[in-house]
Amino acid sequence: MSEKKVYVDAQAYRAIDKGAMIVFKKGVIRTEGEIKPGDVVEVYSRAGKFLGKGFVNPNSNIMVRLLTKERDVEVNKELFKERLKRANEYRKRILRYEKAYRMVYGEADYLPGLIVDRFNEIASLQISSVGMERFKLDVAEAIMEAEPEIETVFEKNTGRARRREGLPEIERVLLGKEKYRTIITEGKAKFIVDMRGQKTGFFLDQRENRIALEKYIKGGEKVLDVFTYTGGFAIHAAVAGAEKVVAVDKSPRAIAQAKENAKLNGVEDRMEFIIGSAFSEMERLQKEGEKFDVVILDPPAFVQHEKDLKKGLRAYFNVNYQGLKLVKDGGILVTCSCSQHVDMQLFKDMIIAASAKAGKFLKLLEPYRVQAPDHPILMASKDTEYLKCLFLYVEDMK
Ligand SMILES: C[S@@+](CC[C@H](N)C(=O)[O-])C[C@H]1O[C@@H](n2cnc3c(N)ncnc32)[C@H](O)[C@@H]1O
Repeated sequence: MSEKKVYVDAQAYRAIDKGAMIVFKKGVIRTEGEIKPGDVVEVYSRAGKFLGKGFVNPNSNIMVRLLTKERDVEVNKELFKERLKRANEYRKRILRYEKAYRMVYGEADYLPGLIVDRFNEIASLQISSVGMERFKLDVAEAIMEAEPEIETVFEKNTGRARRREGLPEIERVLLGKEKYRTIITEGKAKFIVDMRGQKTGFFLDQRENRIALEKYIKGGEKVLDVFTYTGGFAIHAAVAGAEKVVAVDKSPRAIAQAKENAKLNGVEDRMEFIIGSAFSEMERLQKEGEKFDVVILDPPAFVQHEKDLKKGLRAYFNVNYQGLKLVKDGGILVTCSCSQHVDMQLFKDMIIAASAKAGKFLKLLEPYRVQAPDHPILMASKDTEYLKCLFLYVEDMK
């Protein structure tokens, strides 16, 4: 039995009981033993009932990330192998994509603090907990053993979540061959994925939504993809037959990659790429009297913390108001939010307000869309649910 123990309040106990794998600092009532960041601790209810074992970080807002609810399970490479096997079984059962998918989505795969995306023979991992960091070589080996075709494990250990945990930023090949780039297939489109890009290299969470766009392109449309990154939605629109696609992103590196992707798909003649701010570019297009059959808005998370909700919602409102102004009467708006703190109801309220100001009626074309199923939403954990994507038919109010 471990001498390091964490006792939680009734609310945290109830959440764990329902399946949550994360214990927030505010739910901890006391600790026992000398607790250092990255230690494995046992978690107990106030009355002393054993609830699980996991990595602790007393300096973080997320104090414990549970790995198991069983007392006898050891935290070692065998556990990671077992978890990866389980995660793989789930994906094999539900996905048609064999080579490009999220292998591990943290808490939802009982591996909180770990994200692994697979792009053919390369796995790109992101660690956001001190405990998981200690085991990262074991994790990398377990990934290669789970999928023998994987030859490279790249660590894309950068970003805000790392800094919050007090972890250094590292971006390099952790295990295997020195390789950074590969080409994946998604629906009718192909994409070059460079692990050194944003996040793990590619936004796999939007895959189903990008593919869903193809059926709304019948041929000859004019499309605007704002926040395009490496061409995501824009390339799908062009490949599906759009006559002209304008794609905007502020990152020169992302746009350079998007241009390569356009060539790879043989659609560069029908695409225009703009490096610039979404806000000013949409304003300019409006001033020039431009209108589009389809407008896609997939901004970065405007709400990173709950305290920024009001400000972030205003940013969503502004982007969507501008986007709506650029949609033709009888056109389509695809609008997304990857802010975990903005739930579907808040997102709907925002778009209704933006459409009223823009003088537009909206009709929902698709069921409410979320993140791809290889980023599973754990029903008992709100933290695992973040992406929203609405396909809307837009009409002028007349
Ligand atoms: C969620 S990603 C978009 C992913 C993309 N739709 C895809 O399918 O791959 C958000 C993108 O917005 C870009 N971005 C962030 N702020 C921006 C701004 N103010 N103007 C233009 N682009 C911005 C980032 O560079 C990033 O590529």
